[in-house]
Amino acid sequence: ADPPLPGTLRDYERAAMALLGDDVAGYLAGGAADEHSTRWNADRFAGIRLAPRVLTDVRDLDTSADLLGTRLEHPILLAPTGAHRLFHPGGEHATAAGAAGTVYVVSSYSTTAFADLAAQAAGPLWFQLNPVPDADFVRETVRGAVTAGARAIVVTLDTPVAGTRDRQSWNGLDLPGGMSYPMLGGYGGLRPDPAARSIYRPALDAGFTAHDLARIVAEAGAPVVAKGVLRADDAATLVDLGVAGIIVSNHGGRNLDTVPATIDALPGVVRAVGGRVPVLLDGGIRRGTDVLKAIALGARAVLVGRPALWGLTAGGADGVRHVIDVLRTELEMAMALCGVTSLGAAGSDILWEE
Ligand code: FNR
Repeated sequence: ADPPLPGTLRDYERAAMALLGDDVAGYLAGGAADEHSTRWNADRFAGIRLAPRVLTDVRDLDTSADLLGTRLEHPILLAPTGAHRLFHPGGEHATAAGAAGTVYVVSSYSTTAFADLAAQAAGPLWFQLNPVPDADFVRETVRGAVTAGARAIVVTLDTPVAGTRDRQSWNGLDLPGGMSYPMLGGYGGLRPDPAARSIYRPALDAGFTAHDLARIVAEAGAPVVAKGVLRADDAATLVDLGVAGIIVSNHGGRNLDTVPATIDALPGVVRAVGGRVPVLLDGGIRRGTDVLKAIALGARAVLVGRPALWGLTAGGADGVRHVIDVLRTELEMAMALCGVTSLGAAGSDILWEE
């Protein structure tokens, strides 16, 4: 019989960290610099209190969410994270199998080609684009992903240069022989010169601006979602540029330390967007109550980064599936205990205000 699966996300974290070597564990857990923002992401959820309503019939709970024309059974998506074969031999294929009931956002730093995943995945896949300084390569990559079946393109905007990742070497993570980043083509093998100590990386486009994003929106042939937004004025600009969704994210606190927790940035972005496109959030989601709080503050859905990798490491596809199930079950409990039967009914009145 299979060993029993851990019961909470924190159990998965412990199980995963015990299995990984220091370098991969550091890549997984690490944040930028002193990791304040990484901690704030989770801690600020704990600081928001719930205001449960009694005397509500909660026998029928509806956790479904509409996103870019697709109805999802629940609002918990998988955030893009790199190099899944470092965590489990099944790699991105195992993640896709575990995520069959939801959206899996496949990273540019995937160790499996997007088309190979799309050929087998049971659930909807989105492709996350890391812009490189080569417009033709970007165009071909997006076109290839959409042709293979990507339902949306997520453009990560918060990484024009690399952050201070003190837990990783200056060169970043080295992939063992036999692994590569097929979606990055030749850019996947490019290394910065450590002697130069430059903040710029050959695979990151430090010159990426609104002009470049507008071109991707025009040419993608699929909805484009902007990831890595904290400021309300940026969100308004992005809506004007034609994005189909916005992900409030600080990259799990991995790029710039001391930026606010994403749950603190969410209300300003939601106000600026004014319902024109869905707003999603990632960063620090560890409990179903966190999901409900993000929804109550205006998010349409949330994404999890590290928790999915804990599940993948500890249990492959089953681990990923179980991590999502645990969060979904906790979300249902939180909804029932707060007296809301649908996500649309979860407004700010279920948050305790003094
Ligand atoms: C990431 N993240 C990320 N984001 C992105 O746009 N492209 C990427 O390739 C990666 N890679 C990546 C690797 C690892 C190991 C982690 C932990 C994170 C950021 C990710 O999409 C997401 O924003 C955060 O992980 C969300 O925070 P939590 O859920 O990890 O707290």
